[in-house]
This record gives sequence, C-alpha cells and structure tokens, in this order.
Amino acid sequence: MPQGAPVLELHGITKSFGGVEALRGVDFALRAGEIHGLVGENGAGKSTLMKIIAGTHADFSGRFMLDGCETRFRSSRDAIGAGIAMVHQELSVAPDLSVAENVFLGTQPIGRLGLVQWRRMTREAGEQLARLGVDIDPRQRMGDLPIGLQQLVEITRVLFSGARIVILDEPTSALSPPEVERLFGVLRRLRQEGRSMVFISHFIDDILRVSDVVTVFRNGRKVAEMPAASTDKGQLIHAMIGRGGGELEESYTHDIVLPRPTAEPPVLRVARLALGRSLRDVSLDVRPGEVLGVYGFMGSGQLDLARVLFGKLKPERGELAVGGRTVRLRSTASARRAGIAYVPESRRSMLFHQEPIYKNVSISILDRISSVLLRPSRERAIAQRQVQQLQIRPPRVELDLGMLSGGNQQKVGLAKWLTYPPKVLILCEPTRGMDVGAKTDVANIIRELRSRGLAIIVLSTEPETVLSLADRIVVLKRGMVVREFVDETVSKDRLLQVA
Ligand SMILES: Nc1ncnc2c1ncn2[C@@H]1O[C@H](COP(=O)(O)OP(=O)(O)OP(=O)(O)O)[C@@H](O)[C@H]1O
Ligand SMILES: [Mg+2]
Repeated sequence: MPQGAPVLELHGITKSFGGVEALRGVDFALRAGEIHGLVGENGAGKSTLMKIIAGTHADFSGRFMLDGCETRFRSSRDAIGAGIAMVHQELSVAPDLSVAENVFLGTQPIGRLGLVQWRRMTREAGEQLARLGVDIDPRQRMGDLPIGLQQLVEITRVLFSGARIVILDEPTSALSPPEVERLFGVLRRLRQEGRSMVFISHFIDDILRVSDVVTVFRNGRKVAEMPAASTDKGQLIHAMIGRGGGELEESYTHDIVLPRPTAEPPVLRVARLALGRSLRDVSLDVRPGEVLGVYGFMGSGQLDLARVLFGKLKPERGELAVGGRTVRLRSTASARRAGIAYVPESRRSMLFHQEPIYKNVSISILDRISSVLLRPSRERAIAQRQVQQLQIRPPRVELDLGMLSGGNQQKVGLAKWLTYPPKVLILCEPTRGMDVGAKTDVANIIRELRSRGLAIIVLSTEPETVLSLADRIVVLKRGMVVREFVDETVSKDRLLQVA
C-alpha cells in the first residue's frame, strides 16, 4: 500500500446533465505511485468523474485540488498541461492517420526546420509499441487495424506521453490475456517511477490483481474505498450492486459442463471457408436453439469469420448454407435476406448517438416492415418494453442515445433484435464493457432468444463471455478451428491452453 501524499484530491463533486444527477458529493483521492481501481455498475458515474479530472467536463461543483492547491481545468488541454492523460472508454483515435501519428498525436517531434521528423517519429512509435509487446508497422493506417490493436495504440500514446497521472477507462475490453499481462507490467513499472494511475474495469479479477486501492461507485455516489489486498470479488460485487455477489459471480471460475447437442439439423452450416491468412479451412455449424461460442485471441480470424458470415467479406473458397439451402454471400443485404443478423464489435457504427433511444431500437425494424408505417407512439411502446426488459438506465426512451453510459448504449444495440428475431444472430463481444449485473441481463436475453429457436453465434476474445453463454465452443487459432468443445467439461484454463 503506497504511502505517498495525494497528488489529486476531489471533495464533494456533484455533476448533473440536465435533470440527471451523475455524481453526488463524491470524494476521491489519488496518491503518487498508486494504481487506483475504480468499479461500479454501468451508469454509476465512473467515466463522468474521470472526465472531470481530465478536464473534459468543466462544469461541476465541488473542490478540485492538485498537489494541494485548488485548481479548475477549463479544458482537456489544461489537464494535459498539468500532466494528466486519459484513455477514453470510446476510442478516440484518428483513423486516417498512421499508427505513428496516433502515438504522437499533438506531440509530433519537430526538427530544426519546423518539420515533423517522420523517421524519428516512426522509430520511436515502434519502440513504444514494442514495450507493450505490440508488433505492428507504425506506418500502417490506424483505421485498418482491428479495434483491439487500435486500443493498444491509444494506450501506448497515453502511457508514454510522460503524464504523471494516467487514467485508463476500460482499457482492456478488447485485449487478449497476454496483452493484458503486458499492460499490467507497464503499469507496475510506471508505479515504480512514482506515477499515479486510475484503472476502470468490469473485470473484477483484473482490478484486484493490479490495483493498490479500489473505489466503488453506485448510483453517482462513492460507496466504498478499500485496499485491494483486504477485499475480495464477492465483497466488491456486493458493494457495487447492493445485493449478494455470490449468485452473480460468474460461474466460469469453476468448470463448465456443456450440454449434449440436440439432434436437430443445423440452421447455418459453413464448410471449408478460406480467406488469405485469416481463415484457413474453417467449417462449423449451429443448430436452432443453440449458442455456439467462437473463442480465440485477437487476430485469430474471428473478426473475418463474422464478416464473411454476414456477407461483408467475400471468402476465396467455401460454402455457406442456411436452412439447408446454399446461400451465395455477395452482400450484407443477401445475408440479411437469408435471415442472418449481425451485431459488430464496434457498436458505435450501428448506433445513432444524436437520436433518441426509441429510434435506435426501431431502426432495424423499419427495414423489415418498411411497408408498414410505424407510428411514433407505437415505436415508443415497443422500445419501452425492450428498455424495461433489458433494464436500460435511465429507462426513458426519448433520451438521446449519447446521454447513456457506455454499457447502457450496448444494451440498446441488442434491444432491437428482441422484437423481430432473425434466424441466425451473430454477436461480436456482446457483453464487452458491461458490469456484472448487465452481463447477467444480456445472458438472460440471449437465453430467451435461444429458447425461441434462434441459432446464435457468439464471438469473443474473452473466455468468460464464451463460457457463460455458449452451449458448444470452437476455438480459432491462426485462422483454423483447433478444437471443439462439445458435451464435456471445460474451463477458462482449458480454453487458454488451446488458443
Ligand atoms: N453527456 C451526457 N449527457 C447526459 N447524461 C450523461 C452524459 N454522460 C453521462 N451521462 C449520464 O451520467 C450517468 C453516469 O454515466 P457514466 O458514463 O459516468 O457511467 P459509467 O460508470 O462510466 O458507466 P459504464 O460502466 O457504462 O461506462 C449516467 O446516468 C449517464 O446516462
Ligand atoms: Mg464509463
């Protein structure tokens, strides 16, 4: 437990957005050489507090002390100037710039002639990425990388920016276990240098492993702060949601017994899919009323598999059949006509932040029943039902989507499939960024869809997600199915071993 003096102290912070009070009288202190874990349900106020520290929200009440002096940031520029850097929950990268430019965003090395020193920048970016174990060409275009790698580039930028206070808001959501380990290694090194870090995550095990202190938020208030060494997962979950942590504690910590598959013929069957180096001879199928989990590290080919199934990428070889009929996947429209729906990993692209929640829920419905004119009152009523079923908070369908917390936005992304379920539903990382309670809500939704006979494919880089949702699991590695788990016992360790 570090004994350093607080570098940052907040007292009685209150912040509201319109009528919604996001933070109420919150005290928070961060010491030098401390990794401070922050947990709480979706919408508890974690990101809001961090955005206040990082200068993004300047309009709040309460006292803000930096090195013992009362301070007020007016912008994120002020915060950066004071040595505070933040990795935001929503990626904030520049997709059209190179990786190197993203690593040095705003701080490109300038030579004597006032020109950007490209070679130096590329070399240094490569070195910094290597410290996090990231092996990519810094000259690559950022937008061409998978989300997980973009996340690593952004983390690299913030970690090596020289900031003395580093805030990481859900940084590990798209990372594979080895990448998380390397990140933690870097955090521990920075801690030794006396820097302070705030680490937000819904992975309680990670929080407990890397933090010195853990603060728990519930409903805009701080409800607990304790040394990580003297608390455990059950206690933290209890503090977060106010009910017994035991029942919610994900059962994947034990062995999972996968059920015996039904005798029904598969709804979807793919055979010998091949695409460059990312898919080599992939065959799999899903039955009605079954959840097939596809597990693999980032870059194992999952993403391209999902894109091929949804008609977004054309495979070089292979066949696909839905309901016994061969489907020629030429476009996403033909996949949709065949009854395949897809929820991608970056839900941002599927959602409309400036539109009310009810519109976001009904948008996919509209193109299904385009001939029917949907009255706004009916649209709202449909949305209201989904919002209740998914426990989206706040449960007000006329709010703009952008006003919801990250986890609640994700629930909205799923809500639409409840009303008009497809035959095959492909979900990429369906519970990424969700708190334990919300994960349970989503698991219940997925089970409900399964019981209605949908065939569901869940692709994830998180063993927990696959284990908690799937009836059958295939493991992808370098574009190949290396193992199938069916009607047997499986655990996180087993998955990690074969991946
Ligand atoms: N820009 C905004 N406009 C209106 N309301 C907002 C805005 N940002 C956040 N809120 C509201 O403030 C509350 C706290 O949100 P916040 O994003 O801080 O939650 P969080 O703890 O980070 O949740 P998550 O785990 O889902 O990321 C929520 O009720 C949210 O709807
Ligand atoms: Mg958040």
